[in-house]
Amino acid sequence: MEKFVISGGTSLKGTVRISGAKNAAVAILPAVLLADSPCIIENIPNISDVTNILIAMEALGANIKNINKSTVEIDPRHVNSFVVSKQMAEGMRASSYFLGALLGRMNKARVAPPGGCNFGVRPIDQHIKGFEALGAKITLENGLVEATANELVGASVYLDVVSVGATINIMLAAVKAKGLTVIENAAREPHIVDLANFLNSMGADIMGAGTNIIKIRGVGSLRGTTYSIIPDQIEAGTYMAAAVATKGDVLIDNVTPKHLESIIAKLKEMGAEITEYDEAVRVTINHRPKKCNVKTMPHPGFPTDMQPQITTVLALAEGTSIVTESVWDSRFRYVEQLTLMGADIQVDGKMAVITGVDSLTPAPVKAVDLRAGAAMLIAGLATDGITEIEEIERIDRGYEDVVEKLTALGASIKRVYTPDNAEILKQA
Ligand code: EPU
Repeated sequence: MEKFVISGGTSLKGTVRISGAKNAAVAILPAVLLADSPCIIENIPNISDVTNILIAMEALGANIKNINKSTVEIDPRHVNSFVVSKQMAEGMRASSYFLGALLGRMNKARVAPPGGCNFGVRPIDQHIKGFEALGAKITLENGLVEATANELVGASVYLDVVSVGATINIMLAAVKAKGLTVIENAAREPHIVDLANFLNSMGADIMGAGTNIIKIRGVGSLRGTTYSIIPDQIEAGTYMAAAVATKGDVLIDNVTPKHLESIIAKLKEMGAEITEYDEAVRVTINHRPKKCNVKTMPHPGFPTDMQPQITTVLALAEGTSIVTESVWDSRFRYVEQLTLMGADIQVDGKMAVITGVDSLTPAPVKAVDLRAGAAMLIAGLATDGITEIEEIERIDRGYEDVVEKLTALGASIKRVYTPDNAEILKQA
């Protein structure tokens, strides 16, 4: 078991380089299975969610060569399995993308569904609706979702909810289907555009990614390509929020400022000064942030994956703010952890009322999910004294080199190994 020990209260200062986007990588890597020659993927974040995807791809028969820390060459030519077992899917939230990718590659897939996650169930009914529209038959066998088709044929699919996962999965299944697929009410996140750009660079014919109507004209085959993943919007936003919470001055480098617009708007409302460059943003603030209201929405709205981090900044702001979560049913579980540190937050269903306090007090807290963990980091960094964060494997799912990056910004943070009860008993 590992934990983070933060000695907080120091303003973050300096430059941080943002890694490749987790949510683009976990879609683009399975998409490589659709190619009939090797692909080189660059700017891959070195995080456990990505490692688990690569392990699953290797188990399916792909040949994987690490070229350097952020670049891999993947040869999918010898992939012969269409099964992603429960054990393989366990460490992955994005296991469902193997359904679309394997269905697109070999007209069949058997994949363990993504585990429930710590902020609610993860339904895949819209993914299934899309696969069925393309002609696949979906069954549940021994707890695995099985999708089979004699032939996939393009169709129109209207998504009842704007779903990132369903949009991606339907794109993966449709890219080599016969004829035209139209996804209406599609999600518009930057990683959807990135996946479309990647598939198009392999020879696909996808138009409209980034709007709510995506048109995919099936092609016979896809060739290998070299592709660089976009920077991580949420990692960038997390460091921006940390800069504001610690009254710092941080240059967030290797970002696409356009992807950060909604986050920039809210941090400016709080009184931060933000300068945009071509591939960087600088966040400066030397006073306590001001209150503001935030409502999460699908892109281009304020991202739900930044909700815990922004709530943490608002917990330290002057005045009372309201944060409304409109994407996930229950994404406020981390609030209990923040209140252990003295935050004044009342949650009522999908709404949190946050009365800012002058300062938080250190307490042992847990990362109840990935972004909740990011929120605990921000709280610890902004608080005088020693904060310990447990269950940090959830933070490692999505933040590359977090200790190194924060240390370079002047923070005092250590990763500390502590044996758990089972290990202590074993040693006794
Ligand atoms: N939904 C359905 N039916 C479906 C699919 C989704 O009702 O078939 C609902 C969900 O319950 C939720 C909403 O639609 O209320 C949006 O879910 P979506 O499908 O967009 O989420 P996802 O694809 O499972 C991705 C990210 C999440 C991020 C959401 C929303 C990946 C791997 N994950 O999940 O990221 O919160 O989109 O933007 O891309 C994270 O990185 O911390 C994370 C949780």
